Amino acid sequence: MSGTCIIGLQWGDEAKGKLVDLLTQKHDIVARFLGGANAGHTVVDGDNVYKLHHIPSGILRPEVMNVVTAGVVINPPVILEEIDGLKSRGIPVKNMLLSDRAHIIFPWHFAEDRAMNQSTNDGEDIGTTLRGIGPCYRDKVGRSFAIRLGDLVRPGLKEKIEMIVEVKNRTIQSLMNGGTFEPLDAQKIFEEYSVYADRLKEYVVDSTDYLLNAVDEGKSILFEGAQGALLDVDHGTYPFVTSSNSSGVGAAAGSGVPAKVADTLIGVIKAYSTRVGGGPFQTELFDETGEKIRKRGHEFGTTTGRPRRCGWFDAVAVRYTARLSGADVLSLMMLDVLSTFDELKICVAYDLNGERITHFPSHVDDLRNIKPIYETLPGWEEEITEVRSLEDLPQNARNYLDRISELVGKEIGVVSVGPDRKQTMFTGSLAHFSDVNP
Ligand code: GDP
Ligand code: IMO
Ligand code: MG
Repeated sequence: MSGTCIIGLQWGDEAKGKLVDLLTQKHDIVARFLGGANAGHTVVDGDNVYKLHHIPSGILRPEVMNVVTAGVVINPPVILEEIDGLKSRGIPVKNMLLSDRAHIIFPWHFAEDRAMNQSTNDGEDIGTTLRGIGPCYRDKVGRSFAIRLGDLVRPGLKEKIEMIVEVKNRTIQSLMNGGTFEPLDAQKIFEEYSVYADRLKEYVVDSTDYLLNAVDEGKSILFEGAQGALLDVDHGTYPFVTSSNSSGVGAAAGSGVPAKVADTLIGVIKAYSTRVGGGPFQTELFDETGEKIRKRGHEFGTTTGRPRRCGWFDAVAVRYTARLSGADVLSLMMLDVLSTFDELKICVAYDLNGERITHFPSHVDDLRNIKPIYETLPGWEEEITEVRSLEDLPQNARNYLDRISELVGKEIGVVSVGPDRKQTMFTGSLAHFSDVNP
């Protein structure tokens, strides 16, 4: 096996971090290929809980190299905080490399994110994480005002910052719509970022070259996605998306490694749906059922602490993102959260202006208009967090899994019944991973 790719198939927070941490045992390298500090990936090892934003979720295992690739946008103070936090807990962070091609987030990106959070659609807030992600990717594509990690650790940084600050002070002021904005101080930013550069330079490499050599040497790579496929800038619920390709199609572009290297793509799903921020969410629940899911699943953002919007599983959306991402197999997480519900609903089709459709609409107007058509399945009473074998799940839980698999058109190879490493069951084509359990 040469590679595995892990992609969230909903709106993020599908528990990708947990799965990456487990599967690193079977790989030489973990490569994170997109996003930045908008992501929050949780790894639970017994009583220890780690929340990672940039650093790949393989960092807890010293034998695995963790690579932050070209497609990631790095916020230096946040990644340094992550490094310091891990070191203070006995994780040495010697096994990490940062791409010199990764773009850097600067204070002007935060100011722009605050000023431009609204979409062009009815002024509804995108509800970004306000981490400067969109503005940094915009500058990357625009090229004129971008600084990469490779630039940060080379001469000429001061002049670049001065030139950019001069323009950004004018543009941000004009975006403020009468509001006040404290102009950015180029000298201060240069001094602050020089300190960051000094601390980060030991990790900086040409990650594309590193990974391509690793492929030649037959090493196995685990590609770690962030966000979820419905937040993909091209194929998601635009404009309520993030600013990079967060579905499977983004793995090759972000990492610089050809897509065919990952011979298994695992699509990660929750047993229900959640979304943070604005935008259409067809199966959202506004009643006590939604509140119960939020409470049982502790559905509050890892990065921003915002309550996550909760709803039923949407098989139409996941069937779309599984096909879009090239998922071979599904990893179904948080099944334990659905215990004690009398009945469970799965969205099997949409009603769009009186017509039954089973494809995922491309335009936000249609996404706002569709009404979910549900199928209802009986729930189960028992808590299942101690279950370690699929045969021991209540029959109704097994029926629920089977129906999701059938509707999405993919096999389920992992079932997770709690945050801990040991609360994980591997089956079918992923049964060979069973021995990763601690
Ligand atoms: P990610 O962004 O996809 O890595 O997911 P997050 O870490 O943001 O959110 C997933 C949350 O669910 C974390 O708090 C995990 O510890 C937790 N978690 C993971 N798997 C399970 C599970 O099977 N059941 C429950 N109840 N919690 C889980
Ligand atoms: P992980 O990797 C959930 C959402 C934001 C917002 C939209 C755009 O932990 O699954 P951005 O700051 O990226 O410009 O915000 O995308 N979003 C996420 N939601 N999990 C994430 O990451 C997310 N990263 C971004 O809430 O709606
Ligand atoms: Mg998360």
